Amino acid sequence: MSFQVPLFLDLEPKTNSFFDDAIHGLTQTSKSLPSKYFYDLKGSVLFDQICELPEYYPTRTELGILQEHMSDITQTLGESVILVEYGSGSSFKTQLLLKSIPDVEAYVPIDISREHLLSASEQTRMNYPNLTVLPVCADYSQQISLNLSPTPGTRVGVFFPGSTIGNFSTDHAISFLKRIHHLVGLNGGLLVGVDLLKDSSVLEAAYNDSQGVTAAFNLNVLNHANEKIGAGFDLSGFKHVAFFNSEESRIEMHLEVLRDQQIQIRDTTIHFQKGETILTEYSHKYSLEHFSETAAAAGFKVEQVWTDDQNYFSVQYLRAV
Ligand code: AVJ
Repeated sequence: MSFQVPLFLDLEPKTNSFFDDAIHGLTQTSKSLPSKYFYDLKGSVLFDQICELPEYYPTRTELGILQEHMSDITQTLGESVILVEYGSGSSFKTQLLLKSIPDVEAYVPIDISREHLLSASEQTRMNYPNLTVLPVCADYSQQISLNLSPTPGTRVGVFFPGSTIGNFSTDHAISFLKRIHHLVGLNGGLLVGVDLLKDSSVLEAAYNDSQGVTAAFNLNVLNHANEKIGAGFDLSGFKHVAFFNSEESRIEMHLEVLRDQQIQIRDTTIHFQKGETILTEYSHKYSLEHFSETAAAAGFKVEQVWTDDQNYFSVQYLRAV
């Protein structure tokens, strides 16, 4: 009898529809659209371009930190680790980690997009023929139970790079971290990229690049709505705005309405007044103290922090206590 290896675990995440989310967000007094809808095909290409911009320091800084401190990082992760990744799992950063950890027990990429997950997993299996790759289709904004039951000496470690945690408000970041705590269990860990507080001119330049790529990325969410849910946005009626809100310690991206107008999404009419905005993204910036308090509120202890020379960005190892 052959040994059954679960090659794909489908937790069948319920996906909200773009339509429902858009109607909900655009019929509030303060209008908003969830930032996850940036990432259609065109949006993903634009995001990759953002990562290469001279003003956009996070990607290259995080990569530099990972490269510089890789042996320390893998040592901190431990000898035999089940590496869980939230997100697509095809990224260069993951490859870097997989290449460097000597003894990965298994690699568990988790993603909500079934197709993306399966093709990325196939790629990883080809690159690492000896690696056990166990893709899980799930929504990480929900609690995930995997029953990984690591043997003694094996640890579960989640990798969550890119400072995507900054998209959450502090309260939501705490609930998110609690779900990770539950997934990894006691002594499990989280290796997370966290963007740090810095001079607002540096922050604002990173989200208002001179080539206008971030502006195109922000406006593209309206294109995506036009194509996907039949919205009637005229992009010339909106303008990219990004600024640092120091009280809330976050970059806010909005689309500012340039003239009074109304648009139609199927049978719903939405009125826009000149000067109002659609909030499209928060990107929270942390001090090391604030992040360690946030982690502690979810039962994590910050065990190690790696940064760059300018203290622009951090990669942190949190241990579940
Ligand atoms: C992918 C959420 C980390 O907040 O910097 C980049 C997205 N938005 N430029 C960020 C983004 C505008 C990015 N994250």
